[in-house]
Amino acid sequence: TTILWNDRLVKEEEIHLSVEDRGYQFGDGIYEVIKIYSSLMFTVTEHIDRFYESADKIKLVIPYTKDVLHKMLYDLIEDNQIVDGHVYFQITRGSSPRAHAFPTTATEPVFIAYTVAGERPFEHFEQGVKAKFVEDIRWLRCDIKSLNLLGNVLAKETAQQAGCFEAVQHRGDIVTEGSSSNLYGIKDGVLYTHPTTNLILNGITRRVIMSLCVEIGLPVKEESFTTDQAVAMDEFFMSSTSAEVTPIIQIDDYKIGKGTPGEWTRKLQAAFEARIQ
Ligand code: PDD
Repeated sequence: TTILWNDRLVKEEEIHLSVEDRGYQFGDGIYEVIKIYSSLMFTVTEHIDRFYESADKIKLVIPYTKDVLHKMLYDLIEDNQIVDGHVYFQITRGSSPRAHAFPTTATEPVFIAYTVAGERPFEHFEQGVKAKFVEDIRWLRCDIKSLNLLGNVLAKETAQQAGCFEAVQHRGDIVTEGSSSNLYGIKDGVLYTHPTTNLILNGITRRVIMSLCVEIGLPVKEESFTTDQAVAMDEFFMSSTSAEVTPIIQIDDYKIGKGTPGEWTRKLQAAFEARIQ
């Protein structure tokens, strides 16, 4: 398999990264994950656009155009003959003597992209997963797809230590998002999800789901809800590039609805399946 290192396709052994890479020392960079279905990148334009938006928000200038990046990712996937899986890519502010402030001398950003082949998590789609409430202790720019993921990592670890697949993070009593997913509740035929503020990532899968809701006739309210309201929902689910539409059937000790994936969730899954064909 090959890896995209800056603008070159290379073998992993050829890559050298600096110990003073700002991504390594400060998490000073951003990333994206794009799903590959039948050798094609799903919602690639949206992911590339968000990559440039995240870069802008941290004042990092990506040294390629969007079209060049798209072509490089395409070549990488073709080179590795990935049919189903994903491509991960990140860019850091580069290497420079360790100091918090941006480097003053010319520093090249460091870009890496690699592919992972893999099956979709069908068992989760079918059966749903359990989740755990975890206080959202992250910073106030969760809209940036930053390499700084410590808050997310700790939330996920707390959930998994408790035998749960995902964290339902909340700031005070307001439910924000999962550790690496967006969250949705359905009550009396209306879907609720946190608005796209600085407190959550504006998920690409979330945007797809918003359009699927129109398609299947499910009214949406982009309004936040509390932890008490969350456990009283008829249905609950999470979304991300890898989790797609994954039902959440229990949060802490509270069963959601009947404790099985709900009907609207099933309709969204079917509509999602049709969208990726
Ligand atoms: N995670 N919220 C957070 C905090 C995320 O990390 C992610 C994605 C999402 C969903 O975004 P999208 O639908 O664009 O994938 C929401 C990726 C998949 C990850 O970190 O692996």
